[in-house]
Amino acid sequence: MSADHNKTTHFGFKTVAEDEKAGMVHGVFSRVASKYDIMNDLMSMGIHRVWKDAMMDWLAPRPGQKLLDVAGGTGDVSFRFLGRAPGAHATVCDMTESMLVEGRKRAEAEDMADRLDWVVGDAMALPFADNTFDVYTISFGIRNVTRIPDALSEAYRVLRPGGRLMVLEFSQIPNDMMQAVYDAYSFNVIPVMGQIVANDRDSYQYLVESIRKFPNQEIFASMIREAGFENVKYRNLSMGIAALHSGWKI
Ligand SMILES: C[S@@+](CC[C@H](N)C(=O)[O-])C[C@H]1O[C@@H](n2cnc3c(N)ncnc32)[C@H](O)[C@@H]1O
Repeated sequence: MSADHNKTTHFGFKTVAEDEKAGMVHGVFSRVASKYDIMNDLMSMGIHRVWKDAMMDWLAPRPGQKLLDVAGGTGDVSFRFLGRAPGAHATVCDMTESMLVEGRKRAEAEDMADRLDWVVGDAMALPFADNTFDVYTISFGIRNVTRIPDALSEAYRVLRPGGRLMVLEFSQIPNDMMQAVYDAYSFNVIPVMGQIVANDRDSYQYLVESIRKFPNQEIFASMIREAGFENVKYRNLSMGIAALHSGWKI
């Protein structure tokens, strides 16, 4: 039994051994991979596209930049980045190969395969050298990571000095009444939608529970500072349903 076996963490609302969580998250995304893009549109009523565009507006991709898109899944963020930055290159890194397979199909269909690499890897132990990338993005990924501080340290390590981190993640709505309305929607509608469209209620139950467990905007901003990033700021999206966090490796 490993030393980590005694440590626990959360998997949605369940308490699990730390060394079991990654396998459970991998199971969720392996099961949903083929329906992931369509479910994103259905669950968010298309709003995730607006949030990802807001991410690009703030990030302002520049020609020739090297992007590392961690927990990049089917590559949605990378495609947007490349669309705004001629000559840029994206590396999509994700621990679930079946998500990358879906993304690669899309890259081929959109004739962008030569501008992307697809790498299986863990956000907490990235398979890249220090000081390699201009930009690090993680979109709807970090709340699934077992030890978030380890992922943020790895982001800092692989960014070059002057490089930028940007995180898009579900967050907390500062208004209790709005939060209650949102909870009613997410806990009652999303798992049912998951059952109907992807024939998988449990994975979508995990997704909504994991959203509620993620730290609020201020706490997450301080975690980013603790990893070494400077000039850390955040912007709420749709009243705080999601938030963008930005930080720089100076
Ligand atoms: C909700 S999807 C997000 C995909 C994409 N970034 C987007 O915004 O559409 C979350 C992704 O995080 C990946 N993931 C979870 N934990 C990870 C880890 N420790 N390292 C790398 N990828 C991870 C999952 O495999 C999954 O593809």
